Amino acid sequence: MTDRLIYLDNAATTFPKPAPVLKKTIETYSRIGVSPGRGSYDLAAEAEELVLRTRQKVARFFGSSDPDRVIYTCNATDALNTALQGLLRPGDHVVSTRLEHNSVLRPLYHMRRKGIIEYDLVPFDGRGFVDPGDIIAAVRPNTKLVVLSHASNVLGTVQPVQEIGRRCAERGVPLLIDAAQSAGVIPVDMQSWQIAGLAFTGHKSMLAPTGIGGLVLGRQIEEIEPSRFGGTGIDSGNPVHTEAFPYRLEAGTLNLMGIIGLSEGIDFLEEKGIESIHAGEMELLKRLHDGLSRIEGIELYCAEDLSDHIGLLTANIRGMDPNDAGAILDADFGIAVRVGLHCAPLVHESIGTSPYGGIRFSIGPFNTDDDIDRTLAAMAEIARHRKG
Ligand code: ALA
Repeated sequence: MTDRLIYLDNAATTFPKPAPVLKKTIETYSRIGVSPGRGSYDLAAEAEELVLRTRQKVARFFGSSDPDRVIYTCNATDALNTALQGLLRPGDHVVSTRLEHNSVLRPLYHMRRKGIIEYDLVPFDGRGFVDPGDIIAAVRPNTKLVVLSHASNVLGTVQPVQEIGRRCAERGVPLLIDAAQSAGVIPVDMQSWQIAGLAFTGHKSMLAPTGIGGLVLGRQIEEIEPSRFGGTGIDSGNPVHTEAFPYRLEAGTLNLMGIIGLSEGIDFLEEKGIESIHAGEMELLKRLHDGLSRIEGIELYCAEDLSDHIGLLTANIRGMDPNDAGAILDADFGIAVRVGLHCAPLVHESIGTSPYGGIRFSIGPFNTDDDIDRTLAAMAEIARHRKG
């Protein structure tokens, strides 16, 4: 047992958050933690100013020129629900993929069960990538939307979103991207990539606290219905919720502490450079990958080639329930990983790991060579015992 936790569950949430992000977030919230945009006093105006500035920062970060179309949400799931339930109407068809997380699969399934929509899920290949041609081939005359995860939370593969965006635009079908795993490690340029909507969460690679995320919409999205109604701080005498963006899709007091954290997270990422953070994580992933490949009895999934990848991979010890392996890694070695189906059951079905799933190792900006070496030693020992 090591004397400290080796945290390899950064795809669930990055931990720890950078010390300057935490410090500055708490300092700012201590100073201006009032209800933004509601009161007539200076502090409320200052808080609102920060909320607006952060919308600008988020828009710039994702290559959008429209801060009014940055909608604050609780997380990526909330953003995806806001988009899917707001955009889809009876009779619509959606194209998505078997790589998706339940944050896409479940809203789609719910709407299909209610008789509202139909959808098709495109498969991925043996390397973990979706073919843009397959997506376009699944488009029908009534296809209202293509929705796709940018990076798989099980395989780590980064999908060719740029090409998919171009081809969807040629067909006149808006593309919605689930950037839960990519935002903060893979640069995104919504405008030139022709992405109509992007859902992200703050608490993963954006390095913000939990409870804040966003939906960034392009000009392609004209009609989107709110699914929540309430106070916005503007036009309060009107019983009808405002149609003005971004308030159209926001109701109730915003998560100011989360928004401050998001702003600080983006500052941190821009100072360090997301390419350099990603490169550091990929070096560690390669070390992990090469080490695991040398251990007898270990299976790796879609990890032969680590280009177009984020810093995570999924493995199994042949013949061993991943839940048992995860429990041993935690109890005997102090290593935190995520095991099971990772809320992405169709990925596991496709790679042949249902119903138990796999052991996912996900690397963050603060992992070290030593973390990886200790994990490799632990996996070797568990595999050896399993064999013996
Ligand atoms: N969706 C997150 C994960 O993959 C929670 O772990």
